[in-house]
Amino acid sequence: MKNGQRYEPLTVPRRMILGPGPSSASPRVLRAMSLPIIGYLDPAFFDLIDELTGMLGEVFKTEQRAFSVAGAGSAGMEAGLVSLAQPGDTVIICSYGHFCERQIIMGERLGLNVVPLRTEWGRSMDPGVLIDALKQHPETQLVVAIHAETSAGTIHPIAEFARIAHKAGAMFMTDVVTSLAGCELEFDEWELDFAYSGSQKCLAAPPGISPVAMSERALDYIRNRSKPPTSWYLDLSLIADYWGKDHVAHHTAPVSMIYGLREAVGMALNEGLETRWKRHEANASALRAGLEALNLELPISKGDRLDQLTIVKLPKGVDDVKLRAQLLDEYSIEVGRGLGKFAGEVIRIGLMGESCVPANVFALLNALEKTLPEHGFEVGSGAAAAAASAQLVKNPSPLFTG
Ligand SMILES: Cc1ncc(COP(=O)(O)O)c(C=O)c1O
Repeated sequence: MKNGQRYEPLTVPRRMILGPGPSSASPRVLRAMSLPIIGYLDPAFFDLIDELTGMLGEVFKTEQRAFSVAGAGSAGMEAGLVSLAQPGDTVIICSYGHFCERQIIMGERLGLNVVPLRTEWGRSMDPGVLIDALKQHPETQLVVAIHAETSAGTIHPIAEFARIAHKAGAMFMTDVVTSLAGCELEFDEWELDFAYSGSQKCLAAPPGISPVAMSERALDYIRNRSKPPTSWYLDLSLIADYWGKDHVAHHTAPVSMIYGLREAVGMALNEGLETRWKRHEANASALRAGLEALNLELPISKGDRLDQLTIVKLPKGVDDVKLRAQLLDEYSIEVGRGLGKFAGEVIRIGLMGESCVPANVFALLNALEKTLPEHGFEVGSGAAAAAASAQLVKNPSPLFTG
């Protein structure tokens, strides 16, 4: 203790977090995380792992492997890339946003022969582009694509991408960090080989664990590759073995994160996946109605846009940093900044999991209505809330009892 200083219990500001993630964690999840620690090889913990395996299978809609990687969503990303291809293998990475570019960087660092397939940010990728790339690279081992690109606010037809990849003899890996439990995802029906997510978005748990699903075909590939993955920690076959019926020891599992994930997935399943998807859709459409009533431009077109994350173009003269700082300082509301090609041009509003309720839509619209005129952008008084209310009457949000 320096100079007799005492450290009081930590406090943090209370925020309404409406950015691209994390979203708010459910109190029930946080309560579960304060349960006593038990050993990661305790039979009682194995019971929990077995239960959670089944629950994750339900949320991914798979009868194949479902488990979790200890680490952020990026750990799931790196685990897939290091496990499903070997150095020198051709890997096509579809790129239409910041997180796709992260996959490319990781793939290159891992020594994969990465073929970046770059298409326009803000538009769903045309599957024809992938067909052409696979014709040029028939040796492709793995195709990688993001389902919901949080940086660009776009959704992509991954079921079609998977079908095209398989037809060309490649495996298909996808990022469902922002889509899992927020919109339709069918792991088995869409014949995905590997999908990784994050705990901190539509599942409403704290960041730090990456739920994943993997096909038996992908597991067979890892077990039979000529050399094991260059990462021991992120070898998906070893992690699957810990989560499998023999519970073969690997690293010490993040016990409290697994309690939290169990609770979060349980809450999603109690709500019902379809109801949860509907909640995301209904609140996003109310938000969009309100934003449009403020004369703000939503640059992503209807069929291409996400419900979990709405991209809003900043009006001319409105400074991104100042606007977000004011929302945070005066209203304790966090919204996200633009990334990559969208940096400085847009703000990103997330409505995910616990944060996805009408009260938050109205709070943000009200804060924008009050702040935008101070940045030189005049808006009509009351119009946004009225438009959002009218939209919710037409298309109600299922009640979320959290
Ligand atoms: C689509 C997508 N993929 C990957 C990530 C990375 O996840 P994490 O920050 O948990 O590593 C994010 C994070 O926002 C994301 O939105």
